[in-house]
Amino acid sequence: MQLADARRRLIVPLDLADRTQAIDLAQRLAGHVGLVKVGLELFVAHGPSIVTDIRERHPELEVFLDLKLHDIPNTMRGAIRSAKRCGARFITVHAGSGVDHLRACVEEAADDIDVLGVTVLTSQDAHACKEAGHTRDLAELVEMRAVCAREAGCSGLVCSGLELARVQAVAPSLCRVVPGIRPAGSARGDQQRVMTPAEAVRADASYLVVGRPITDAADPVAAADAIVDEIAAADR
Ligand code: C5P
Repeated sequence: MQLADARRRLIVPLDLADRTQAIDLAQRLAGHVGLVKVGLELFVAHGPSIVTDIRERHPELEVFLDLKLHDIPNTMRGAIRSAKRCGARFITVHAGSGVDHLRACVEEAADDIDVLGVTVLTSQDAHACKEAGHTRDLAELVEMRAVCAREAGCSGLVCSGLELARVQAVAPSLCRVVPGIRPAGSARGDQQRVMTPAEAVRADASYLVVGRPITDAADPVAAADAIVDEIAAADR
C-alpha cells in the first residue's frame, strides 16, 4: 500500500483537556496521519469550537468526533443535529442503544457526518460483559450490534481487531474502525482486546485508532510514522 493510503487509515486521539496542547499535537501530526480524534475529555472541556478550530487550521486533517452517544432517540437526534455542522467526518454512537436510536442518528446526520456504531468497548473483556449483565458471549454481542448498525444505516462500526471477521460477515459494507491497537512490545494499559497494527490491517480493519503508543512517545511524529510504515508493509 502507498504511504499516503496508510496515513489516511490512521486515527490518533487527542486525549487531552488542554486546548493549546491538543492544537499543538494536531499541528505536529498533520500530514502524518489521516484523522485526529476528539473524544470526551477534549470535547467536554471546549465544545464544538475545538473541532472547527482544528479543521480551519488543518483542512487536510479530518476529525473523528468520539462522543459515544447513548440516550433516548430524541436526545441522540438532537446531539447529532448540534454536532453535524462542526466539520467532523465521523461521530460515534453506542450500537447497543438499539436500531431505532441509531436510525434517528443516521436520519439526522444525512450527508453532513458519518455515524459509526460502537459495538463493545475494547477495554471490556468477557468478565466485564458478564458483570454488566450480558448473557451472550462477547463476540456474539459484537455481531448483534453490528447487525443493529447495519439495519439502521450506519456508515461503519467500531470493534476490536478480534471481531473483524465476524462483523465483516454480517455487515460487509460498513467501514471498520479498530481501537485497542498496540505495536509489539508497547504497554496495553486499560485495553483488553488488543492487536498490533499489522495484524489489524491483515484482518481487514479500515481505520486504526492508536493513542498512547503515539501520544506518550518521546517523539509522537516518529511513532506515528513507524505505525504508518507498519500499515503500509502489512497490506502488500
Ligand atoms: O490510548 P489508546 O490507544 O488505548 O486509545 C484508544 C482510544 O480509542 C481512546 O481515545 C478511546 O476512547 C477510544 N476507543 C476505544 N475503544 C472503543 C472506542 C473508542 O478505546 N471501543
